[in-house]
Amino acid sequence: MNFPFKIRLLFLFLFVFNSCETIPFLQGSFSGKEETKLHLPQIEGADTKRDRYEFSGKEIIISSDHPLASQAGMEVWKQGGNVVDVFAASSFAISVLRPHSTGLFGGGFAVIVLPQKGKWAYDFRERSPKKGTSSFYLNPDGSVVSGKTLKGAYSAGVPGNVQGILQIQKQHGKLPLSAILAPSIRYAKNGFSVYADLANVVSKTWPEMNPAMKKVFGIDNRAIREGELLIQEDLAKTLERIVENAEKEFIEGETIQLVTNYYSEYENFITSDDFKTYQVRVTDPLVSSTWGHTVLTMPPPSSGVHLVTMMNLYSEMQKRKSFPSGDVGEMIRIIESMRVAYRDRAELGGDPFYTTVPVPKLLSLGYAKEEVNEIEKKVVSGSWPGPKEESKKSESYNTTHISIMDKDGNAVSSTQSINGIFGAVQMVPGTGLVLNNTMDDFAVAPGVPNLYGLIGSKANAIEPGKTPLSSMSPTILLDEVGKTKMVIGAPGGSQIPTSIFNTLYRYLVQKEGLYESVSYPRIHHQFQPDRIFLDPEIKDSFPQTELPFYQVQYIRHRAKVFAVVREGDRLIGVSDPKGEGVPLGF
Ligand code: DON
Repeated sequence: MNFPFKIRLLFLFLFVFNSCETIPFLQGSFSGKEETKLHLPQIEGADTKRDRYEFSGKEIIISSDHPLASQAGMEVWKQGGNVVDVFAASSFAISVLRPHSTGLFGGGFAVIVLPQKGKWAYDFRERSPKKGTSSFYLNPDGSVVSGKTLKGAYSAGVPGNVQGILQIQKQHGKLPLSAILAPSIRYAKNGFSVYADLANVVSKTWPEMNPAMKKVFGIDNRAIREGELLIQEDLAKTLERIVENAEKEFIEGETIQLVTNYYSEYENFITSDDFKTYQVRVTDPLVSSTWGHTVLTMPPPSSGVHLVTMMNLYSEMQKRKSFPSGDVGEMIRIIESMRVAYRDRAELGGDPFYTTVPVPKLLSLGYAKEEVNEIEKKVVSGSWPGPKEESKKSESYNTTHISIMDKDGNAVSSTQSINGIFGAVQMVPGTGLVLNNTMDDFAVAPGVPNLYGLIGSKANAIEPGKTPLSSMSPTILLDEVGKTKMVIGAPGGSQIPTSIFNTLYRYLVQKEGLYESVSYPRIHHQFQPDRIFLDPEIKDSFPQTELPFYQVQYIRHRAKVFAVVREGDRLIGVSDPKGEGVPLGF
């Protein structure tokens, strides 16, 4: 039967929201017993890419990195949950569905706006274990032990995802944990069809996996393939124990015993005490007014502050008449805003409990003016310094983001991660947990680039209990009357702040639609390497001859933006068309 696309969509929602457990095509994707393919007519019947990656509704929209994670959120919404329940259910679900991107042994940030209650910034990122010190990763001569922060048991920080999601849900959610975790347990237990991206990274990392991990991600001792059913039984049991014991499971439960058993073979690098003393940090979001909106973003050790600096610098440069007109001026404004913001990140970024990050100064207009004065000198004199020395370049596709907004402006923006692809590429036997490799987000030594080519200073050095600096920058924008306007965030390592900047620039400055803004080719500069990274589609329009002092590399931008906006009485969600995600709602 070939129904028009809109009608098929209507069927989807009638089915999903009214009889979820009995729908043949959706049940197949949940249970996977008989039918392992993911069947969402929204995907299969999409006539255009836009149909596939954009969705609008009036009540609620979620945009996440996997259709079943968005669906998990809608399942609990349908049961009377609120946006925080949607966040919690989809967060646990995405841990099952994208085990190479995030997971229960990962960490994250969330910015939350509940207009009737308040606004919060939650930091549930990994912390360095008490044994974690810089010297642990250095040879006696001060050189870096190759790969120690990147792979294996010592590259993991103490995880915060479970404590963070549970605490947020306990404080602001409505539903019992059994309802919140039901979809993720089902996905883990019954399995889901392996999609291309997951199959790809399993095959790539297969040789590095420990036996426990190979058992989960392999069939007949070879890497699981696209279209095959991924069942994660131990992970399902861990999730069931979380339903039973809530936060205690990650303080003193069986899971922690299994983790500490594993670490007894690795000098007890992470101990039960590290779990007992783990604290979720709750603060106010960082608030700033720019580009006609109130920006609520995550404070340090997130890079939200650098995103706002970028926006302020751009605005300040727009006021100066000395900049060239047209595309040339616009490129200079964008690139120089990025360069300064990433320089600040490299020099000043770190855990505010251990180092002072001068946030008020970085957000001030006086600072933007001072920095723009310096840029203006280069513009006016035409004297641009040559590119600095290169640091290594990066490649990785992981981490995840969830954006949610309902019609009353309740909103959650949360980025979660195990850092690199499959993190440490080690699984704790009996738990289904893949270790993060977030210790690599510290500056192992000043000036030594991390996985994303980012450098850091002493402010981001490894110290016991400290949180590594992060590019993750979940953000929410309010309009001029204080109503929630946009929820935005992205995975993508060092490209996270610039991907958000690019999207806000297209949407708020260039006044394009959300889908166009998310999918528009991007511009990225991260201070070091001193190079502009451009999506290949911009090649013909980039005014290279007028900008000879910039070194350019054409390379596909890695970050995937997930955003929801309110336009009148409509909510519009977009998942980045380069990914597997999907917005859902109604
Ligand atoms: O917190 C950070 O900055 C990194 N752990 C994020 C990693 C990431 O987004 C990888 N995505 N491609």
